[in-house]
Amino acid sequence: MVGGGAREHALAWKLSRAAGVDELYAAPGNPGMAGMATCVPIAADAMVELAEFAASLHIDLTVVGPELPLVLGIADEFARRGLLLLGPSRAAAEVEGSKVFTKEFCLRHSIPTARSRVVRSRDEAAAAVKELKVPVVFKADGLAAGKGVQVCRRKDEVEAALALYFEERAFGSAGEKVLVEECLEGDEISFMVLTDGTSVLPLASARDYKRLKDGDQGPNTGGMGSVSPAPMESGLATTILRAIVHPTITGLAAEGRPYRGVLYAGVMVTREGPQLLEYNCRFGDPETQVVIPRLEGDLLPLLRAAALGELGALRANWKREAVVCVVLAADGYPGAPRRGDPIAGLGEALAQPGVLLFHAGTALQDGRLVTAGGRVLSVVGRGSTLNEASQSAYSAVGRVQFDGVQYRRDIGKGLA
Ligand code: AMP
Ligand code: GLY
Repeated sequence: MVGGGAREHALAWKLSRAAGVDELYAAPGNPGMAGMATCVPIAADAMVELAEFAASLHIDLTVVGPELPLVLGIADEFARRGLLLLGPSRAAAEVEGSKVFTKEFCLRHSIPTARSRVVRSRDEAAAAVKELKVPVVFKADGLAAGKGVQVCRRKDEVEAALALYFEERAFGSAGEKVLVEECLEGDEISFMVLTDGTSVLPLASARDYKRLKDGDQGPNTGGMGSVSPAPMESGLATTILRAIVHPTITGLAAEGRPYRGVLYAGVMVTREGPQLLEYNCRFGDPETQVVIPRLEGDLLPLLRAAALGELGALRANWKREAVVCVVLAADGYPGAPRRGDPIAGLGEALAQPGVLLFHAGTALQDGRLVTAGGRVLSVVGRGSTLNEASQSAYSAVGRVQFDGVQYRRDIGKGLA
């Protein structure tokens, strides 16, 4: 398992219970994963070191969590050495690595997405805003650690964005090209599939809560919570597969970039139907923390079949239960998080019925668990409805303590 966040912890938790998994290694892993995997101190983007490690231990399958190693080409590095890895090649990971690539790809393949302009300067951007009209969305072309998107609903927000992207050059080379895009209105859902480049296996639906504060207020974050299933109309999944996912998989293959791995479509369900907001070339975080607990049976055979190109007609069954994840973040997040605050109450939290805890920004310091990143823990509750699952998650949230903890109080509440 490559990575060390709560998404990777959830995957490791599921994999560690699978038949046929004798040994599990996580690089770099985290203190929560240490109970189920051997954590090795190799950074998630150290591709050559990771490949050498996998070769030396004859690792049967490597699963990659974060986008950075995929966009840098870890799949190509492993393939060159004959090592099996689940994740797209560098060329296929462009769907996340370049928003301009994805936008132009969508136009080539008639995939519904917001109208936009590619701009390189303040003047070009201002002209695009005039044409598309406020509200508009600015997107840095390249990877920006989830911070490259600004939704501007007012003129002063547009001015601030123009300064951020073109004067401060806040996104460096990732912001050389910028998409200015029409703002779409609707409900957002996270639609993930597992694919071997030909066959497509949809994962359970999920919704992510991106804003820091209750009621979708405050700044964008990597994700403050998630629910599965996502409340959605019947038939929507089929429409998304037909209009967005299938044309993408066949289009990428036709363009010589066959996609193997998990493809995550961020979709806005508008009055005109679903439209693609973005692709991620990997499992979502925190969506994985709510989707994986719902999987019946083993995860390993599915991941292995996809990596081998043998997904065929394999299908997944999902438990009828509802799952809710509340992210506990450190003081200062999503800006510079404070580190080193002692964390207490995890045992009590875990004793609540139905609760799972996945670590992200935690570390052991002199034998004590302390905060060590922005998103510290994912607290997951399960129930027969989203309301019940939410209550279960919050009963555990209330037992965890660290100074400066931030979390939303409305995850999974008031949904159907
Ligand atoms: P991304 O980094 O592409 O996921 O964008 C972050 C968030 O910005 C998305 O999850 C949406 O909530 C929002 N967003 C992105 N593009 C648009 C758009 N065209 N219209 C409205 N909201 C958007
Ligand atoms: N939850 C959004 C992401 O994984 O990028």
